[in-house]
Amino acid sequence: MFKHNQIKSVIKGMPTSDGDGVQLTRLMGTHQLPELDPFLLLDHFGSDQASDYIGGFPSHPHRGFETVTYMLKGKMRHQDSVGNNGLIEEGGIQWMSAGSGIIHSEMPEQEDGLLEGFQLWVNLPAADKMVAPAYQEFAKAEVPVERSDNGTEIRVVSGKTEKGTIGPVINSYVSPLFMDISLQAGEAFEQTVDGADNTLIYVIEGELLIGDEARELSAKNLGILDQGDHVFVTSKSDNTRFLVISAQPLNEPIARGGPFVMNTQDQVRQAFDDFKNNRF
Ligand code: CO
Repeated sequence: MFKHNQIKSVIKGMPTSDGDGVQLTRLMGTHQLPELDPFLLLDHFGSDQASDYIGGFPSHPHRGFETVTYMLKGKMRHQDSVGNNGLIEEGGIQWMSAGSGIIHSEMPEQEDGLLEGFQLWVNLPAADKMVAPAYQEFAKAEVPVERSDNGTEIRVVSGKTEKGTIGPVINSYVSPLFMDISLQAGEAFEQTVDGADNTLIYVIEGELLIGDEARELSAKNLGILDQGDHVFVTSKSDNTRFLVISAQPLNEPIARGGPFVMNTQDQVRQAFDDFKNNRF
């Protein structure tokens, strides 16, 4: 028997600004929801006012985890200290393992129009925090879309659907499932997950009913699911679009210091010292 994942809590997030004045909603990485192991942060940015995003995220360091950028609209250019340079466009994904240290920037490559997307931070296991930095980038055309006759579309960034569609992102450390799903009214989406997984659903537009309890989750809300082995949702409206992200927790101590996430405060101090002394 399946145990369906039900909604445990609903988070609306906090408006905040990061980088050089980019306006965004922080859904995770706040006092309300510090983390959902192994996820450390989830931001949703989206505005058609250039002043809300034009400053971008200039050069800054990371150590100890992975940053994931998924674009819904617009263009951002990524450059980093190990020589990667790429333009992330609508439907594109970039998965960067900061590992032992990287300095990167993410800057909008547009001066007007809508820029919208997500940034997710995925923790690295203690044993892998100091691995060499790595980078994966896939354009929209490289992200498979599983389409059904009822109008369902599943964009698979990572993980595997019930029908076997596999996302292009290969994760060596933590292996999250990351899917972007569109449903018409009354249609259902089902996905097997590991019983130990932490799972979240973020509704981009429309409205969902979650689990067999059918609790509502509406647009711009983040639903944290309880543990189960079967995500089951139905759509209350046409063109409901949502993200499902799920992974096994690391269950290790988390020590945060700005752009560094380690296991102890000593390691965070070391990260600041290494960065200051050009050892990244
Ligand atoms: Co960054």
